[in-house]
Amino acid sequence: MTTLIINIKELLQVRDSSILKISGAEMAILPTIKNAYLVIQNGLISDFGSMKDLPNVNPEKCIDADGKMVLPSWCDSHTHIVYAGNREQEFVDRINGLTYEEIANRGGGILNSAKKLNETTEDEIYNQSKARLEEVIRLGTGAVEIKSGYGLTIEGELKMLRVIQKLSQNYPITIRATFLGAHAFPLEFKENHKGYIDLIINEMLPEIAKNKLADYIDAFCETGYFTVDETEQIMEAGIRFGLKPKIHVNQFNSIGGILAGVKYKALSVDHLEIMKKEDIEILKNTETMPVALPSCSYFLSIPYTPAREMIAAGLPLAIATDYNPGSTPSGNMNFVVATACIKMKMTPEEAINAATINGAYAMGISQTHGSITVGKKANLIITKPIPSYYQLPYAFGSNLIDTVIIEGEIFT
Ligand code: NIG
Ligand code: FE
Repeated sequence: MTTLIINIKELLQVRDSSILKISGAEMAILPTIKNAYLVIQNGLISDFGSMKDLPNVNPEKCIDADGKMVLPSWCDSHTHIVYAGNREQEFVDRINGLTYEEIANRGGGILNSAKKLNETTEDEIYNQSKARLEEVIRLGTGAVEIKSGYGLTIEGELKMLRVIQKLSQNYPITIRATFLGAHAFPLEFKENHKGYIDLIINEMLPEIAKNKLADYIDAFCETGYFTVDETEQIMEAGIRFGLKPKIHVNQFNSIGGILAGVKYKALSVDHLEIMKKEDIEILKNTETMPVALPSCSYFLSIPYTPAREMIAAGLPLAIATDYNPGSTPSGNMNFVVATACIKMKMTPEEAINAATINGAYAMGISQTHGSITVGKKANLIITKPIPSYYQLPYAFGSNLIDTVIIEGEIFT
């Protein structure tokens, strides 16, 4: 099946296949072709260029993108899309003055979601989660990482990972699964951290690895959750089972999680709202992608990741949604791109690089996703007619997406 897109006002994020991530000053550059065409063959980008060089193709389908932009679909490298119910009451409690930490300390937060998840059937969790997945695809997400971490029991964690697997089998978008058993200590292990870590390492991990249910291992390295030492134990065990680390660090406190992540060659370190100078230094010249979650900062009214300092230090940066019921009940990557510009002072070019190629890198798929490159998946966004791509972050409340293409097919 061949599809041809013609008259593209501007084709964004055109890259050579050797580019797997963009760092520092280069993030300010977004290579584009004006008045372009793009050819899709069997779900992959097979050719593109300027309209004046349009070759003779005989497509089964032709899309006229007059006035519209085409860009690679968003790569959302950090989500918790699979969950049960919601935490609307905690949202109102926070409006009335409680903090995220206070809510967690009285048994709410992650443990609240874990209780709901363990009380909900696998089919019901699947149905709730698939509605969210379909919503984010329509919002332009073409690849997504999804974490477990609301089970906190062997059965609950396996149930979540099976739901992720089923989503990945039933939907055309690329999904990567991350095992986050170390998201919080269940109440019964509050005073027995070793007991829960043993359960993760000796019982959950072998079962997950045997059934090939996860690609990555995660831990919430934070005061009141997992210490640096406990996070290292989890990463080390995950690596033994073939899972590369992608970890939650520096959301509320800088306690050494970044150093630990870099030591264990984490693919990404995520959140980074609280960054010390030395945290930025540690990330220099590593293969670890820093990931900011601006809509989490927005929803919790906590600091934003200091993107400007990090980019000035030569680091790459990815941005993702963190879609979850507690700290970010939104999977809208368009809002994330806009918020990165508005609140973190990233330029539109930097934000688009962070949400596409660098997001792909942070989920280990930048060989196949995240840019307009011959041979990569034809996962694309066609915008509505817009004056320039600045409009994407500028018109932050508008849905500017006209068509979403996943593996060469229009997603409806
Ligand atoms: O990334 N910080 C840890 N985990 C999630 C929030 C979990 C929750 O509140 O349910 C996050 O923000
Ligand atoms: Fe998260």
